[in-house]
Amino acid sequence: MDTVIYKATEENIKKCAEIIKNGGLVAFPTETVYGLGANALISKSVKDIYAAKGRPSDNPLIVHIADKHTVFEIAKTVPPLALKFMEAFMPGPVTAVLPKKSIVPDVVTGGLDTVAIRMPQNEIARTLISLSGVPVCAPSANTSGKPSPTCANHVYFDLNGKIPAILDGGDCTVGVESTVIDFTAGAPRLLRAGGMPVETIEKVIGPVTVVRNSKVALCPGMKYKHYSPDADVFMAVPGKDIKQRMADAFDKAESDGKKAVIIAMSELKDSFGNRKVWDAGKDCESYAHNLFAFLRKADDEKYSVVICQGVEEKGMGASVYNRLIKAAGGKTI
Ligand code: TXA
Ligand code: MG
Repeated sequence: MDTVIYKATEENIKKCAEIIKNGGLVAFPTETVYGLGANALISKSVKDIYAAKGRPSDNPLIVHIADKHTVFEIAKTVPPLALKFMEAFMPGPVTAVLPKKSIVPDVVTGGLDTVAIRMPQNEIARTLISLSGVPVCAPSANTSGKPSPTCANHVYFDLNGKIPAILDGGDCTVGVESTVIDFTAGAPRLLRAGGMPVETIEKVIGPVTVVRNSKVALCPGMKYKHYSPDADVFMAVPGKDIKQRMADAFDKAESDGKKAVIIAMSELKDSFGNRKVWDAGKDCESYAHNLFAFLRKADDEKYSVVICQGVEEKGMGASVYNRLIKAAGGKTI
């Protein structure tokens, strides 16, 4: 199958909406990362998503909607706190997990009786969903295990030949996936840190249970290998000797004959002499925006060791930390 990249013109968005409605797959931009969309009501199309990504079938998909009212067509009940959450943060980089109605096929939810729902902020995404006239289920549009795609070329690299269409809407503004909150088990619970800091959410809906260092995966997808480039990634734990630890790790890699690169925030980037450094930006928002693209660039440019500056787990730092520690497979320095 030839994969066509369509510029996101009005006409092309319509064309892609037709593809989705008729059971085909379309990768599309959202403000977080690119998604790989299908008509959530056609089980065969949903199965095609799992096949294209090489994704384990027990890992449920998020259902994307263009209009808040659609939540009531998909969710059996919407508790008051979930309503408040939706009012404040949808559209936006968040996902709510709610009890599901039977209209949502089991293939979408991996057999769970709950469904994850997200209304993206990105206009192209919302127009596509709206024109397709159906709920659109979509995981991130990467090969399973690889960093999520933040531009159309990343999607093309992973899925060329496996899907009919990519809608190119440029770079994703946020760069990490949505924050997932579960409303089905008593107090709201954070399942995945993401594009909306949990502290901001708590200001509106009150305390959200955050489980750190959980040994069991909170959402099914979190138990799998994630965000992993081919290169070996190390995360430097924040602390006063962090520059030295990063420089030492770099030198050790190079003396072992490996091509290494450092990813550091702007304040540290000039601390490494002649060593190769990529600037992640001045704050954790920028770091989040740049991280996946850097991990992919490391593979493109054949780096075999990537040494990343770690960050504190607060605000957007929590999502950056989560992606770093997973990309590193837990390896810290
Ligand atoms: O920003 C995003 O969320 C992007 C864009 C495309 O919308 N999507 C995304 O999808 O990141 P995916 O499939 O890569 O990650 C969704 C996560 C997975 O870890 C999955 O296990 C979890 O959400 N999830 C989905 N449905 C769930 C449910 N019913 N209960 C608990 N976790 C669920
Ligand atoms: Mg994903």
